[in-house]
Amino acid sequence: PERAHRDGAGELMLGGVRAGDLAARFGTPLYVMDETEVREHAQRVRDAFERAAAAHGTTVRVYYAGKAFLSTEIVRWVTSEGLGVDVASGGELAIAIAGGADAAAVGFHGNNKSVAELERAIDLGVGSIVVDSPVEIERLAALTSRADAPRTDPQTVFVRVNSGVHAETHSFLATAHEDQKFGFALHDAPAAVARIREIPGLRFGGLHSHIGSQIFGVAGFREAASRLIDLHASLLDGGDAPALNLGGGFGIAYTEADEPTDIADLAAAIVGAVAEECAARGIPVPRLAFEPGRSIVGQAGVTLYEVGTVKPVHLESGVDRLYVSVDGGMSDNARTALYGAQYSARIASRTSSADPALSRVVGKHCEAGDIVVDLEYLPGDVAPGDLLAVPATGAYCYSLASNYNAVPRPPVVAVRDGEARLIVRGESVDDLLARDVGAAWRPSDAS
Ligand code: LLP
Repeated sequence: PERAHRDGAGELMLGGVRAGDLAARFGTPLYVMDETEVREHAQRVRDAFERAAAAHGTTVRVYYAGKAFLSTEIVRWVTSEGLGVDVASGGELAIAIAGGADAAAVGFHGNNKSVAELERAIDLGVGSIVVDSPVEIERLAALTSRADAPRTDPQTVFVRVNSGVHAETHSFLATAHEDQKFGFALHDAPAAVARIREIPGLRFGGLHSHIGSQIFGVAGFREAASRLIDLHASLLDGGDAPALNLGGGFGIAYTEADEPTDIADLAAAIVGAVAEECAARGIPVPRLAFEPGRSIVGQAGVTLYEVGTVKPVHLESGVDRLYVSVDGGMSDNARTALYGAQYSARIASRTSSADPALSRVVGKHCEAGDIVVDLEYLPGDVAPGDLLAVPATGAYCYSLASNYNAVPRPPVVAVRDGEARLIVRGESVDDLLARDVGAAWRPSDAS
């Protein structure tokens, strides 16, 4: 992590707090979020897009994609840095509102929002609902025409478009018809927009596209922008000045091998591409929106674990690999098991001059794929009782956590200027047992 350094005794400091003090006070595993770093990333991303938008005579709104990591405290941080919040379920919406987000600065996503979720979002006055199917448009038509609807102003909706562009870290792929669940195909979107424009309770806000996550280059965004602007240009006669939301997906460095494009360069290139496409068609550059998640919180998070066992495993190549087992694993970081994600690890509680040893950091779960850090060279004297830090775990770790093997989910602590604050309580086995109600129920019991 950018802000991590060691104190005089060689112990890792996080936000000015000793890793060992954090572990002693809050236990391990422990998610540690550096508030200053989250705020800095939020500012940097917002600033990058605002400058780029201003350079092309338009404005932009940056929403923090809460799916990366959501708690009321994070909502307070990002909203006080001027970001909106993008939510993808009724639960995320509730956390955003509880954290004080202005409903008007909330965008609501999802390919299968329930009627209850949509109703709640409309009643709260969320700024935009991103529609994903014809069924959903009709649900919104019904909900906004309720006699008892608390709002009389139309609900703004965006139309999610499946541009056929699918980007990943180093490459992108573009097809005419992408076979995935999100959005309207390019050729179906005009009918969706026409239908929305017929419904008195709805206002067409613009098109939306999200092409993937952990993207390093601009090529995929460029291609998506070109496809989207074609469609956007064809929709300009409705009198509603549609905007364009190009989603999130900006990549971060997980290990030293990763070299993502700087966000300022990325923002300039993406907005520049949009402006070029607009100029080529003689249309004004629309108001823009983006929804970064990972690039706001990813590098601001560190997970602390305690090493439980260390075991050399003899490989056919003749070398040994140290299997370093920690007290968490795929229940607090599913990304290595799910996506083959790469992380790094270091001993947090001390420095060591021992020779580096080929190591794999594994969890405590009953699954061979329960790997936290696949490949690392830890000091060869790594031992039970050492604290291990795994950086860049701020995004999609806590939010993807599970109770596999009835392991309670860890707490989240915020650090800043030498102070630590619990922001999400950890679970206990009692919490798990409290949900295990165990009693028999027969449909005939319902009365
Ligand atoms: N907007 C939409 C519509 C999205 O679906 C996503 C992410 C984002 C914004 C934010 O993308 P970001 O800036 O964080 O890349 N669990 C996976 C990532 C799933 C991303 C889902 N959508 C992982 O851990 O890599």
